[in-house]
Amino acid sequence: MLRAVAIQLGGTEYDTILSWPYADQYVAKLLHVDIPRRIKFGDCQVWVYYNPDKQMVGFGVLDINDCYSDYTLSKPHPYIVLLAINPTIKSFGYGTSIVDHLIGAATVLAANPLRCCDRLFLDVYVDNDRGIDLYMRCGFVPVECEPIPDPLEAGKQYLVMSRSVAVEPTRAP
Ligand SMILES: CC(C)(COP(=O)(O)OP(=O)(O)OC[C@H]1O[C@@H](n2cnc3c(N)ncnc32)[C@H](O)[C@@H]1OP(=O)(O)O)[C@@H](O)C(=O)NCCC(=O)NCCS
Repeated sequence: MLRAVAIQLGGTEYDTILSWPYADQYVAKLLHVDIPRRIKFGDCQVWVYYNPDKQMVGFGVLDINDCYSDYTLSKPHPYIVLLAINPTIKSFGYGTSIVDHLIGAATVLAANPLRCCDRLFLDVYVDNDRGIDLYMRCGFVPVECEPIPDPLEAGKQYLVMSRSVAVEPTRAP
């Protein structure tokens, strides 16, 4: 349904997603500061997504880090930093397609156990019902802890969610 294109910092695609009028300020903040830092100094990839009409409809960001290594026996793990749909368009399930693609990309990364483990994590604000519904439909469950106050966004709390991206062993016929 969507075509994923991996992009670099400084290109026209990154400028395009920076220009979208997001309802929540934190999306632009992450795109301006946090994500460029992860790309430069970490192991982070951004994709943009095109619909069949060749319209750029959203983006997704996947990182490998050790934020939640307390849950992974100290191993690095894949982590969805952010995804968003172009706020000026009508979605036709694009969020679901993007999460599915990020799960697939994390599965490929986790197939190399030297790179990261096979548990994919994300954070989502507790007031983001749409985001939480989307992630639960895609197989994520909250990890066992209370919502965490975000030190960078006064008054906001987020949930940590995770799901397996282990490759099912193929059975001999
Ligand atoms: C959270 C977010 C990514 C959800 O994206 P989304 O594309 O709306 O999510 P879904 O895949 O569930 O799609 C739902 C919409 O597509 C429609 N849809 C789903 N499948 C469809 C299909 N096969 N055909 C037509 N429409 C379909 C649904 O009816 C719904 O439409 P609505 O907007 O009129 O209610 C988006 O709201 C967003 O960008 N939010 C801001 C950033 C954010 O919160 N990111 C997540 C936390 S990091």
